[in-house]
Amino acid sequence: MELKGLILSGGTGTRLRPITHTSAKQLVPVANKPVLFYGIEALRDAGITDIGIIVGDTAPEIEAAVGDGERWGVDITYIPQEAPLGLAHAVLTAEPFLSDSSFVMYLGDNLLREGISGLVETFQQSGPDALILLQEVPNPEAYGVAECEGNTVVRLVEKPAQPKSNLALVGIYMFTPAIHECTRAIKPSARGELEITDAIQCLIDEGKRVEPHVVEGWWKDTGKLEDMLEANRLILDALEGEIKGTVEDSEIHGRVIIAEGAHISHCTIRGPVVIGERTIVHDSYIGPYTSIDADVDIRNSEIEHSIILAQSKVMDLGGRMEGSLIGKNVRIVRLDHKPQAFRFMVGDNSWIGIV
Ligand code: G1P
Repeated sequence: MELKGLILSGGTGTRLRPITHTSAKQLVPVANKPVLFYGIEALRDAGITDIGIIVGDTAPEIEAAVGDGERWGVDITYIPQEAPLGLAHAVLTAEPFLSDSSFVMYLGDNLLREGISGLVETFQQSGPDALILLQEVPNPEAYGVAECEGNTVVRLVEKPAQPKSNLALVGIYMFTPAIHECTRAIKPSARGELEITDAIQCLIDEGKRVEPHVVEGWWKDTGKLEDMLEANRLILDALEGEIKGTVEDSEIHGRVIIAEGAHISHCTIRGPVVIGERTIVHDSYIGPYTSIDADVDIRNSEIEHSIILAQSKVMDLGGRMEGSLIGKNVRIVRLDHKPQAFRFMVGDNSWIGIV
């Protein structure tokens, strides 16, 4: 029987505020492509075309960006979740869609270098009740943590204060319908959510086979600024350069993508860098690991290792911008009138570092 896909794209994205005050965290672009699209592509590449997407408050925005899936040759069904009550609650909500199919559950803010095709094959061939992906991390307390004995998972704990191992649960899971009994059986955790980690523990307690697979290539949960920038760095590292826009009196080094309609003049651009459609960069330096989205305007500025979303303007910065995530339609400009003072209009939970 064919596997279904279940992508979770609800949640409030509190750790990426203020960007997520106005935009779903799964739609923040990495190398100018929404994080969520990488997940859809990973499922499609593994041959999964019947995909449900769990949506919450940001449903209209997600639906507008993704559409019916035709662009990827997949079929998308939107499944509204009444409130973000946990990952296992999302599975409960999706039960009518999943019916008696095995499925891959993919958290919409996760990125996995190696994709999932090989893992889906392993899951189908070795036939466990669930297959979970693990990776060693320096800060396991921020994740679901697995304790293994050999190739057997003995215990899973969600964000333990004192982790018993450094193996974090990657946000990509493969389940048979056996999981449904467990999502129905578990109780909310201390943070008031039905945890998928507890549902998998329930499978183990019931004597079901939960197969662990440690992923070697990189994995990123892009829920925080640092992870987002790191994901951007990793994706850009693998991109090939391509210049479609116009370049005038500029030096372009390394792998640089300049999209159609973009115009670069009097600049030094040191890749890997991606510059979106119709973006203008003038008299500026754009350094490695920078993604600049469409319709951005940059003049007389230096930017490195940053992500700048669509329609923003950066003018006469006077210092180098680094490690930054700039939202949509932001203006960073130099004022030439008196009083010579900083002027800010900044949303809630914003963060500004000055030198
Ligand atoms: C969720 C899961 C956690 C897992 C993580 C992976 O955490 O609850 O077990 O390790 O995703 O991205 P969240 O990011 O929702 O806090």
